[in-house]
Amino acid sequence: MRRCLVAGNWKMHSTPAETESFLVRFLPLVRSSSAEVVLFPPFTSLDRAGRLLREAGVELGAQDVYFEPQGAFTGAVSPSMLAACGCHYVLVGHSERRHVFGDGDALVRRKLDAAIAGGLDPVLCVGETIAERRGGQTSLVLETQLDAGLRGHSPEAMARIVIAYEPVWAIGTGETATPEQAQEASAWIREWVRCHCGRAAETLRVLYGGSVKLDNARSLLALPDVDGALVGGASLDPEGFAALVAAAEA
Ligand code: PGA
Repeated sequence: MRRCLVAGNWKMHSTPAETESFLVRFLPLVRSSSAEVVLFPPFTSLDRAGRLLREAGVELGAQDVYFEPQGAFTGAVSPSMLAACGCHYVLVGHSERRHVFGDGDALVRRKLDAAIAGGLDPVLCVGETIAERRGGQTSLVLETQLDAGLRGHSPEAMARIVIAYEPVWAIGTGETATPEQAQEASAWIREWVRCHCGRAAETLRVLYGGSVKLDNARSLLALPDVDGALVGGASLDPEGFAALVAAAEA
């Protein structure tokens, strides 16, 4: 049994005060949710969110992490700093990190390893661009990203990793993968994990991300190999996101 995970990635939105206002409205609405709910606010809101989420039944995550534990790395944030704010999860390899900031597969792997070593559960984001999909390279791209991120982990580490399949062309564009495309890619990912990482495949959660909204959440989350959603824009409104969480449970 894989527990459904619905995550909100706020990207570069929300001050600490706005985060607090969101939580005051959102938390009562998801209190009895059977799905696991995770929020990924910006770094500057983590401490405030972590205090408010204590005992709230909603998990906290960070949008990125650096792999060094401390030192002269201006602008970087370490796993232990995130854990100290109350983070349980961290995104690694989000498409905006890969495509806007140039995070390559080797860096993503170092971040993922550091997250695990630092007590954070990583959400490894993978996905192809539209040119790669049109060029018939979707599985090659997924394979490269999965291989770099997942090879050689212990079963204990594998059990802590979540995968988010986020086709780059569907992120923030309003264009969602069809249920067939989302199922095909998620099943392909699970099969790859089955072949290369063994039993972890059965318990591995594969999320779909890319323009998930209230009106498409139900059909995407009903797919056999989709175990949750990573939601950007539609996670910014507390009532709207709570409704999406409720749809995920149905
Ligand atoms: P979107 O973003 O829902 O706004 O498309 C998803 C994501 O980037 O995780």
